[in-house]
Amino acid sequence: MHFKQHFDIPADLTYLNTPGNGIIPRQVHDWRRQREVAFFDLKGSLRDQQADLVNSVRQTIASTFAAKSEQVFCTPNFSFGYSTLLDRLPRTYTFLLLNEDYPSLNYPIISRGFAFHSIDITHHVEEDILQAVKKYKPDVFILSLIQYITGVKIGLDFIKTLKATFPDLLIIGDGTQFFGTEPFTFQDAGFDAIGGSGYKWLLSGFGNGFMLLGDRLIELLETQLRDIPRPKEAMWANKSILQTFFEPGHQETLSHGTLRQSLAFLQSQGLENIQQHVQHLSHIAHEELNNRALLLPEVALREERSTLINIQVSPTRYAEFMEAGISCFPRGTGIRIGIHLYNTEDDIHRLLRIVDQH
Ligand SMILES: Cc1ncc(COP(=O)(O)O)c(C=O)c1O
Repeated sequence: MHFKQHFDIPADLTYLNTPGNGIIPRQVHDWRRQREVAFFDLKGSLRDQQADLVNSVRQTIASTFAAKSEQVFCTPNFSFGYSTLLDRLPRTYTFLLLNEDYPSLNYPIISRGFAFHSIDITHHVEEDILQAVKKYKPDVFILSLIQYITGVKIGLDFIKTLKATFPDLLIIGDGTQFFGTEPFTFQDAGFDAIGGSGYKWLLSGFGNGFMLLGDRLIELLETQLRDIPRPKEAMWANKSILQTFFEPGHQETLSHGTLRQSLAFLQSQGLENIQQHVQHLSHIAHEELNNRALLLPEVALREERSTLINIQVSPTRYAEFMEAGISCFPRGTGIRIGIHLYNTEDDIHRLLRIVDQH
């Protein structure tokens, strides 16, 4: 598989910072340049077709993740979509959170004064979640599928089991560190809502994201809004009531269009093929790092692993890694890397050479 040929990566750079932000495919970069020129051409009409573009992005998101287009909301990033959703939930709802999850997930619960419980992430986090749901009986469970510091991945099968066991529990997910690394089928995943930003594993640059809402949650939200008068202005005649919250105002079509182009690119490469590639490489990296005792215990002890790895070397070695051309980031007690489709076995060996230089 020669995914790397679609990207312009300098020969002396090993790009492992996808958990920070991913690389845009060359063909998508070209599209952006042309689009920018055409968009501001005074004789052109692209500036008047913003709603059409967003609708086409919506359809591409829906087809990539097996959702219905009316379940897709185009947002500028994950955090906006998520906090918009929280603000539409009953204030009496109680939440279950994971400690040290991405701040955009947990802080909006705290800052809005919602009642919540939170649990630590151990190597048996799935069992702990089941116990906590039984004990605390939350209305909503909130999680990032892949934890941004540790790379702990909560299995998709577990989410289905959780939903089947507690059908009334709302499960709201964040797939920002997950979408783009393997196929995802929203319609039977067990999530009531899941969102993501596009600039990491979806290779789409900043300013785009989405929120997928399940039918039952849409119904609940619409019921909450039943007594609110609908907008009367002609320009909002085609907006659903939920779109007036999730997609108010004008959207940045270059950013959203980039997401559409990159999703089309990922589809053309095949998310199954990408999954095979990144799992193969991350298996090698995990084995090598485990042999050196450089994995976090909660990752080392788990079977299911993600493509985001926190290498347990001192974060103070960050400058040394960067000088050696290894693009990475210090996070928590180590240095964080991510392995995506443009990475190769050579990248892993280059990384290990620097890791071992001590
Ligand atoms: C787990 C996780 N969720 C979401 C995000 C991004 O959210 P936003 O783009 O809204 O900051 C990140 C970015 O680091 C992340 O690591």
